[in-house]
Amino acid sequence: MRRYSRITGTGSFLPPKRLSNADLAAQLARDGIETSDEWIVERTGIRARHFAEAGVTSSDLGTEAARRALTAAGIQASELDLIIVATSTPDMVFPSVAAILQDKIGANGCAAFDVQAVCSGFVYALSVADAMIQTGAASKALVVGAEVFSRIIDFKDRTTCVLFGDGAGAVVLEASETPGVLASDLHADGKHVGILCTPGHVSGGQVLGDPFLKMDGQAVFKLAVGVLEEAARAVLAKAGKQDTDIDWLIPHQANIRIMTGTAKKLKLPMDKVIVTVDQHGNTSAASIPLALDEGVRSGRVKKGDLVMLEGVGGGFTWGAVLLTM
Ligand code: ACO
Repeated sequence: MRRYSRITGTGSFLPPKRLSNADLAAQLARDGIETSDEWIVERTGIRARHFAEAGVTSSDLGTEAARRALTAAGIQASELDLIIVATSTPDMVFPSVAAILQDKIGANGCAAFDVQAVCSGFVYALSVADAMIQTGAASKALVVGAEVFSRIIDFKDRTTCVLFGDGAGAVVLEASETPGVLASDLHADGKHVGILCTPGHVSGGQVLGDPFLKMDGQAVFKLAVGVLEEAARAVLAKAGKQDTDIDWLIPHQANIRIMTGTAKKLKLPMDKVIVTVDQHGNTSAASIPLALDEGVRSGRVKKGDLVMLEGVGGGFTWGAVLLTM
């Protein structure tokens, strides 16, 4: 009998400090930088973001989301045999956020590692966990997306600082005789490194290069909608499904215009798309599990629903996972 993986619990966490667009605009104005609620809402759909307090790390946010996912799944941390954390804002150069989080939740001893695929990180991590469960290498996995993008935002650059926020989301993925994850499709094209990157790195006791996020917004926009359609069509074909079979599209929450563009290409009405970007901005690898958890907890995403998760981000990376809840 084929072995599948299935999501048995979801969880998420946003740090308490919330800044509306008006709050952020007032903060930026103190440094002579102009923006407005109208501009941000019209171009991005974002209305607010959450920022972690100084000293609060990705593993702290991920730990809260993980505890909620474990409770929802009804399992103990000690039962986990795999933890994968998707993040681009790790607590340290090493060890991994996954290892730090493993100790915080009390899952000591199981395999734990990070995946770095920026905003596609969660679909990459979920796909790896699914493959490990299918082969029997793991049976109960925790897959987390956790970010503190506020640490790499340049608050003097209004073209990027209004877009991002901090947060975490998590799922418990368990071996199952019924699917579960039906198909996944992952890609990267490194020739686009320059359109979205944080080029700084640590060397010889110093940060060399610019440690702030850089983005060519229009180039990202153009690439994103095209590759998201391709990845969605690829997983539908692998699973033998049609776009009309999709109950919920849960895309990376970067920007409402990328989401509406993708939904249009898949001929999906917006009431089949889970949108949370308005509440937390772009939380990179955390955004898909945050939106999935909101969909589940609001009662919209139900057991048996066909769900398409889609990520796109720096690298350039992109991918999709099609699953039955
Ligand atoms: N407030 C007010 N004005 C602003 C702001 C701001 N925060 N930022 C830029 N502007 C101004 C610009 O200076 C420019 O003014 P000008 O015409 O006088 O020169 C004007 O607004 C238009 O700027 P553009 O960069 O052309 O704005 P655009 O319509 O492209 O919107 C945006 C920018 C929202 C970033 C858009 O390109 C986009 O959605 N890109 C997708 C990228 C994205 O979402 N990235 C997220 C991370 S990547 C990922 O997760 C996959």
